[in-house]
Amino acid sequence: MNDLSRGVDQSDEVPLVGDGVTQGIVRVGDTVRRPVRPFTLTIQAYLAHLHAEGFSGAPVPLGLDERGREVLSFVPGDVPREPLPPQTAREEVLVALAQLIRRLHDAAERWVAPEDAVWGGIPGTRVRTSTPDGEPPLVSHRDYCPGNVVFRDGLPVALIDFDLAKPTTRVDDLANALYYWAPLMHPEDRAPAFRDLDIPHRVAVFADAYGMTPRQRRILVSAAGTMIGRFHVNMRTAAEQDPVFRRFWDEGAKDRLPRAETWIQQEGPAITAEIAVR
Ligand SMILES: Nc1ncnc2c1ncn2[C@@H]1O[C@H](COP(=O)(O)OP(=O)(O)OP(=O)(O)O)[C@@H](O)[C@H]1O
Ligand SMILES: [Mg+2]
Repeated sequence: MNDLSRGVDQSDEVPLVGDGVTQGIVRVGDTVRRPVRPFTLTIQAYLAHLHAEGFSGAPVPLGLDERGREVLSFVPGDVPREPLPPQTAREEVLVALAQLIRRLHDAAERWVAPEDAVWGGIPGTRVRTSTPDGEPPLVSHRDYCPGNVVFRDGLPVALIDFDLAKPTTRVDDLANALYYWAPLMHPEDRAPAFRDLDIPHRVAVFADAYGMTPRQRRILVSAAGTMIGRFHVNMRTAAEQDPVFRRFWDEGAKDRLPRAETWIQQEGPAITAEIAVR
């Protein structure tokens, strides 16, 4: 008998707490139960497509349980929290993450979202699905914060929490991953082990491991600048409407995001030069 067919006793449930955006996430055996949101069925269809394409670095969608909650497979491993621990600053981590995202993108590419697809977003922000950088659109994760990356044996092996997945482009999605993991942030805002790293070199390591095209390398920095600017505006808007985002804002986003905007403007040309195909 599996966990879906028997009634779930409250005592079987182990709360899972990330950064606190989503309340009520629990582990039950080898499954995770999450509240159903308007986008849940769209994301379950997307996850099913990824697995059908052979991409196993994401939870398996298992439908809804008897209490109407979303059911996903529990992905075993370690999920880091901010500040990122020193061992996650190794270049091997960037390489494995880039390769993981490359496999995700290649698996996602052929998925056509249903006409009635519903996408998530942070509170109070308009869900844009246009893809202005001219690259072909695909649905991807878009939220590679530490709490959404599962490690095994010290390397990223899977992604969880596809709540912000929606149509994007490879470049925009890679800019998100690099924001957290290069990271594309002012040194003051990085975890200690990341403070003195050579960021242009790290972006080049990531770009090579992913296999970024010359065009993607040319537009990456501009995509990252636009993304950080959008983060700033969206976080401020969300903070006005939602107590969890208010806390993120007050605890540092209000300073970190403008600092990141200035930093990417200053350091962007060095990154573009380093990743250019010579
Ligand atoms: N399918 C899963 N497999 C393994 N662990 C999971 C899974 N889903 C959630 N978790 C754990 O629960 C935590 C919170 O889940 P999730 O990321 O979905 O919620 P969240 O509130 O959006 O968190 P965050 O703000 O950290 O992204 C994760 O960081 C992870 O540790
Ligand atoms: Mg999460």
